[in-house]
Amino acid sequence: MDETIYRGLNGVNVDTSQICFIDGDKGELIYRGYDIRELTEASYEEVVHLLWNGDLPTRAELEALRAEAQEDVVLPDGVVDLLRCMPAGAGPMHALRTAVSALAAFDPNPDGVDHENVRRIGTALLARMPVLVGTLQRLREGKEPVVPNPDLSIAGNFLYTLTGEEPSEAATKVMDVALVLHAEHGSNASTFVARSTASTLTDVYSAITAGIASLKGPLHGGANTGVMNALEEIGSVENVERYVLDTLAKPNGRIMGFGHRVYKVRDPRANILEHVAERLARESGESKWFEMSLEMERVMDREMAKKGREVKPNVDFFSASVYRMLGFPADMYTPIFAVARISGWMAHLFEQYADNRLVRPRLVYEGPRGKTFAPVDQRA
Ligand code: ACO
Repeated sequence: MDETIYRGLNGVNVDTSQICFIDGDKGELIYRGYDIRELTEASYEEVVHLLWNGDLPTRAELEALRAEAQEDVVLPDGVVDLLRCMPAGAGPMHALRTAVSALAAFDPNPDGVDHENVRRIGTALLARMPVLVGTLQRLREGKEPVVPNPDLSIAGNFLYTLTGEEPSEAATKVMDVALVLHAEHGSNASTFVARSTASTLTDVYSAITAGIASLKGPLHGGANTGVMNALEEIGSVENVERYVLDTLAKPNGRIMGFGHRVYKVRDPRANILEHVAERLARESGESKWFEMSLEMERVMDREMAKKGREVKPNVDFFSASVYRMLGFPADMYTPIFAVARISGWMAHLFEQYADNRLVRPRLVYEGPRGKTFAPVDQRA
């Protein structure tokens, strides 16, 4: 029996995929043949079409996708009621995970895993996830939910349902870029979890709920909230160095927003988001978060170099200051990530259901052997 262990499944290929290619040494991220740097020109809807259908849409295909998504944009009343019942202090990722799971109960055919049904549910989730997150945030602020505006794009509607105000073109473009950059990333933890869950031929809602649960963790999508919490705790550029040194001195101390399993150089998404953050800082005059981020990278580079290591910013690092400058509270950053990643998760579920094999790795047993059973009263 082969007892080779790949901890954290590091370097293990579990299947083939047509969706995403990452070159971690060169810092390249490719969605279905297109470099991510070029895709920032596209709208999120165009990228969804690319991920789900294999290529960018024609105008007619784009309109069809938008129309299809509009059909399901309104949330069932029962799900809004469920969100209303959440205690004021409930974490937004807990609320989102619960609400997505609850959507299954309002679906007439939640369990079918044929392509047509999976596609129908995927389109409904694409439309509803931004509305769920927007509704969630409005309720937390003691405000009434906003009915989505069918004339707005997914990015526009997301901002609209969050704020209740029609967003500017500039803010919509920033949100579009953020959604595109976070849409897909190969066999990352949450996508692997979603695929593994689907591999039992359970339903889409269960697989996506599992994906959301995985994304929430601070080593994955939860890191963007962690970055903002750290920046808030640090408070000023002068305090950055002390914070980094103190954190690294702790056992297993981690600076959120740095490091990646696949990238050995700077994450290409961090490069793009750095430019966005820099522009927003300049335009808004609120440069503190961006300047603290640059200082954090400078100190991390220096400290990691001492250990002969390169631990570079990942996608979560600059997204924190971007979202801050768009006015979102820190604990909403991971739900925003989930809104974007629904497209990638669904692209992978299409692949998984189309050619399924149960995901079932093994553990090498190292526990005791050969023990003898004794009845309960005879045990010491
Ligand atoms: N801060 C400090 N040191 C780090 C960091 C970090 N953020 N990331 C990696 N390192 C160091 C580790 O201490 C480790 O050193 P060691 O070998 O002396 O123990 C070495 O780099 C390798 O790190 P691992 O944790 O073994 O790498 P792994 O591939 O398992 O982990 C991970 C990747 C979880 C992303 C890690 O870099 C990390 O914890 N980062 C902080 C959390 C974060 O930003 N997550 C978001 C990732 S992007 C995303 O999921 C969307």
